[in-house]
Amino acid sequence: MRLARFALLGALVGALAAGPALAQEAEAPTPPAQKWSFSGLFGTFDLAAAQRGFQVYESVCSNCHSMRLLHYRDLAGIGLTPEQIKAVASHNTVPLGLNDQGEPITGPALPSSPFRSPFPNEKAARAANNGALPPDQSLMVNSLPGGPDFVYAVLTGYKEPPPGFNLQSGMNYNEYFPGHQIAMPQPLQADQVEYADGTKATIEQEAHDVVTFLTWAANPEMVQRKQIGVRVVLFLVLMTGLTYVVKRKVWSDVH
Ligand code: HEC
Repeated sequence: MRLARFALLGALVGALAAGPALAQEAEAPTPPAQKWSFSGLFGTFDLAAAQRGFQVYESVCSNCHSMRLLHYRDLAGIGLTPEQIKAVASHNTVPLGLNDQGEPITGPALPSSPFRSPFPNEKAARAANNGALPPDQSLMVNSLPGGPDFVYAVLTGYKEPPPGFNLQSGMNYNEYFPGHQIAMPQPLQADQVEYADGTKATIEQEAHDVVTFLTWAANPEMVQRKQIGVRVVLFLVLMTGLTYVVKRKVWSDVH
């Protein structure tokens, strides 16, 4: 009995001593705030950046991350024409249901197809990624604390581990990822894509563009929402003014 009590005490002291050390290891700096076209009350999506960001997603991120909630036709929202959408879709081979013999068939995606997923299921995704699951990116920016700034910080935060850091095998050191170990290898390199509009493809530019695209994808109705908000506030201000004028008029005879 007494022995058990000692063991419990020992475990407690151990946990207390280990607590701060663990917390220190898991601590990641707050991601620095970036300048985004879409932030603020009057922010809108920089469509050129979002289109470049789609190019980064398509040629880099989509090799590991799915975006199951998006369909190719949704790209009209960042200014792609129906012809461009058809062309983008047809470069992707996706499941197209069953043939007359009941066998699954694949073929070029249509504008109405959901984005191609890189892996058929979660097990295959983990097997290809050292056991880690690349999260679906449809709503990723919204679900991560720190949002766009955090995603940008992770994409640009790969570094050599400091001396003495215990990096597990298959993991990569990242300044901004909790615990500083991430299974995703550094996805962006300079000039990894060639932008059609001549923008120089630095790692920072690619990160900025892909985050703009991912934020649009997770909030395609954000601009309308803000515009409605501004109109509602204007209306309320106007109504307040009007009500005041009417009140003065109605009470003007009462002394
Ligand atoms: C080689 C495969 C691969 C590529 C390419 C890749 N990722 Fe990842 N990504 C992963 C894996 C695996 C994880 C899970 C990491 C973990 O849990 O340690 C991940 C995690 C992330 C996270 C962290 C999510 C979280 O929960 O905090 C972000 C953000 C992210 N990826 C964004 C991107 C973006 C943006 C791109 C394209 C520029 C990209 N990734 C390209 C494999 C990849």
